[in-house]
Amino acid sequence: MVCLTLTGNTLEENTETIRKYREYIDLLEVRLDFLRRELLSNMGRIRDLLPLPAIATFRRENDGGQYTGSEEYRIKKLTEAVEAGFAYVDIEYDLDAPALVQLAEEKKCRIIRSFHSFSGIPDNLEDIIIKTASLGNSIPKAAVYPRTSAEALKLLRIIKHMDDIKEKIILGMGDFGFFTRILYRKLGSLLTFCSGESNGGAPGHITPRELRYTFNIDRITSSAAVYGIIGNPVMHSLSPQLHNKGYRKYDLDTVYVPFPVTSVSSFLEFARELDIRGFSVTVPYKQTILPFLVKRDHRTAEAGACNTVLVTGEGLEGWNTDVDGFLEPLRRRLSLSSIRKTAVIGAGGAAAAVVEALKEIDTEIHVFNRTLSKAALFAEKFGVFYHSLDSYRKIAECDLIVQTTSVGMSPDVSKTPVPGYLFSEHQVAYDIIYTPSETVFLKEARNSGCRTINGMEMLVAQGKRQFELFTGMPYPETGA
Ligand code: ATR
Repeated sequence: MVCLTLTGNTLEENTETIRKYREYIDLLEVRLDFLRRELLSNMGRIRDLLPLPAIATFRRENDGGQYTGSEEYRIKKLTEAVEAGFAYVDIEYDLDAPALVQLAEEKKCRIIRSFHSFSGIPDNLEDIIIKTASLGNSIPKAAVYPRTSAEALKLLRIIKHMDDIKEKIILGMGDFGFFTRILYRKLGSLLTFCSGESNGGAPGHITPRELRYTFNIDRITSSAAVYGIIGNPVMHSLSPQLHNKGYRKYDLDTVYVPFPVTSVSSFLEFARELDIRGFSVTVPYKQTILPFLVKRDHRTAEAGACNTVLVTGEGLEGWNTDVDGFLEPLRRRLSLSSIRKTAVIGAGGAAAAVVEALKEIDTEIHVFNRTLSKAALFAEKFGVFYHSLDSYRKIAECDLIVQTTSVGMSPDVSKTPVPGYLFSEHQVAYDIIYTPSETVFLKEARNSGCRTINGMEMLVAQGKRQFELFTGMPYPETGA
């Protein structure tokens, strides 16, 4: 079940949120601690305005809620919620409220007994869950906050140990616990929570629409095949959208999840426990992953960087689809053999990846960098020519100009690394930045009549190639 947590201060606000997301959700949670106090005098009205079964939750401040008043008042209001016909009432795992518990029993209102920890995974978490599950009419709920790969692994192992508790909700908050929100069915949780706004009800909540369209939450079952992306940071990666859209089109019981990682070896244990079939690798792990691979394709070997890992019976196989991703948009526009000379702006890690790709085509590579000494070292390492960034006459001799610095990237969108450079229309301008979709560098090139390629096209091309490696099928026509 997908449960929408309502955190409005007024009933109108909650009604509007429900209206917006009604088609994506199965259950509601009313956070009484968010509602204006005077509204709590009429619990029947709060319940009657809800079009779906609902959980009544009145969370105290030290459990991550907003309520700071007396326990007596809180329990009174929760009791009224049970009277009013809420399907579930959420109370703390150790709350002693026998009258409330008895009333819930009589009213056939299920009790969710929750435990919260906002700093890591407590060692006694299993005991708490087991004890809570043994109480009558009780669904244990644990919301804990993993902060590292090791803690994500610890949480996953606990969840797996709890497999024989049929009704439970065990969720990880924050980025490292995000997988529990997407894979809740696979991990045996009764429901997953979401909010009208990101992080609205708790850290890690996304909107019902994102759950549906970015993660196919309505399609994936307990036996879903899991893929994902590792990196740090990684939560804003666009890859889940691309991959999950492809899975949806083929109607596959497969899901792609972002996994923030602080330790590759802990993540690999995690991947084994979760039976992850493959994953994309992004900054800063494209090199770190190399020693863990039992096989590498020639591009991974040549570039010394891997962005795609397949989990096979023999171990981890490394692939590099960045090269294809870079070349594919060029191929689509021109014959690669017509690119006799290429200018690469920048001499950092991104420039290195671009140069590796350019080596596959027969083009003379010239690197232009602000810091000339860095350009010289780079040139020596890769066997290319180098110049200072203001050598515009040299740039003008190139057929292709590839921009690899972060200059012009959102939020600082007004900048270009080559201010005042006049493009000539025979040149192709390629910027690896994808936010914004058209940088000043590309806009100036387009205004001069050049063909342009943005970073999004490159990102999509490398992702589609990964999709093929993961599924063995071509990326479907989705308009992506
Ligand atoms: P990445 O992995 O994204 O390439 P990097 O290895 O830190 O990051 O490299 C950043 C590149 O962007 C460098 O070439 C850097 O130039 P310097 O070597 O002179 O630092 C370039 N860069 C960053 N900010 C720049 C700016 N404001 N103007 C010009 N070049 C810039």
